[in-house]
Amino acid sequence: MAVKDIMDALRGESLEDLGLKENLAQLVKDIKLIGEELDVLLYLPKPGLEDVLRAKVQQALSEVPDVKSVNVRFAQAPPEQKPQMPVGQPAFTKRNVPGIKHLVAVGSGKGGVGKSTVAANLALALAKIGYKVGLLDADIYGPSIPTLLGLKGERATVNERNKIVPVEKFGIKVLSIGFMLPSEDTPVIWRGPMLMKALTQFLFDVEWGELDFLVMDLPPGTGDVQLTLAQNVEMSGAVVVTTPQDVALADVKKATSMFREVQIPVLGVIENMAYFICPSDGQKYYIFGKGKVAEFASAYGLKILGSIPIDPEVSERSDRGEPIVIGSPDSEVARAFVGIAKVLAQELG
Ligand SMILES: Nc1ncnc2c1ncn2[C@@H]1O[C@H](COP(=O)(O)OP(=O)(O)OP(=O)(O)O)[C@@H](O)[C@H]1O
Ligand SMILES: [Mg+2]
Repeated sequence: MAVKDIMDALRGESLEDLGLKENLAQLVKDIKLIGEELDVLLYLPKPGLEDVLRAKVQQALSEVPDVKSVNVRFAQAPPEQKPQMPVGQPAFTKRNVPGIKHLVAVGSGKGGVGKSTVAANLALALAKIGYKVGLLDADIYGPSIPTLLGLKGERATVNERNKIVPVEKFGIKVLSIGFMLPSEDTPVIWRGPMLMKALTQFLFDVEWGELDFLVMDLPPGTGDVQLTLAQNVEMSGAVVVTTPQDVALADVKKATSMFREVQIPVLGVIENMAYFICPSDGQKYYIFGKGKVAEFASAYGLKILGSIPIDPEVSERSDRGEPIVIGSPDSEVARAFVGIAKVLAQELG
């Protein structure tokens, strides 16, 4: 029995009767299973709902195997009423990055589906519609943000307060391990504690200032970077990128389950390389098939934030360090990114 089964059971529980648009799973702040005893920490959306929410959780989980008793606590309960955190499992202390309103990770299960392209252009699109934005290249094994934004060879500096100063480009603040390596071909080998230190430094020891959004480009897969971030950093959520092929979808399902298991809300799916617009007849061609991403999104209860066409100009411009949202703002791709930025901003309020 995994956390996923519990979250799935809670997700099925609507709170409309209480005038809330969230489902029960969306209120979960923390879950711990110790033996057959489940401890659930919920955000309390309104005072006075404790008893009804407790009953709903217990009802929703009554059918989940291996859970004998459910203890429900609330995040906003006065300190003296808070029961002790149960012992037996390490409690992670997730921290908020100061000054950042929304920390959004861009991930996928599979490599090469366009995460970095999406992270960079989404960050630029958010800036374009008026938000203050940062972009963190958390792909510390294979950073590609410096290339995408024409920042190869750029160096990060440290200020008098001993904070890393991000590089500014196209109106956003950018940080990548690429700004610290002697050359772009230098391989980076991280051992567990070093990795954790580097990543947390990249978030917490940086002069980000006040930002509406910090977009994080994750490495492919469901590895230790994702886990380290999940355990140490309070995030608004993750956006998953996929292409319409079955292979990419199979992996994005794994990534979605992983994010949910580590309690990072999945804010939605971005379908990249969704279709090709033929320059000669203006028709849309669904080269990799149509409808599969929608099917996946609906099966996983996820919103599609938008679809981006495949366009050779995307990779040409990326290689030149002039992302399409900047270099070709009227293109269908750039407009798709601005559309996604608006949907995301609305999702996060
Ligand atoms: N919509 C698109 N149209 C055309 N080319 C694209 C599109 N999106 C991404 N690409 C190209 O696909 C390649 C892979 O993209 P990108 O590097 O963003 O993927 P990634 O998921 O970050 O890869 P990795 O897993 O290696 O980090 C790049 O050459 C990029 O320019
Ligand atoms: Mg990448």
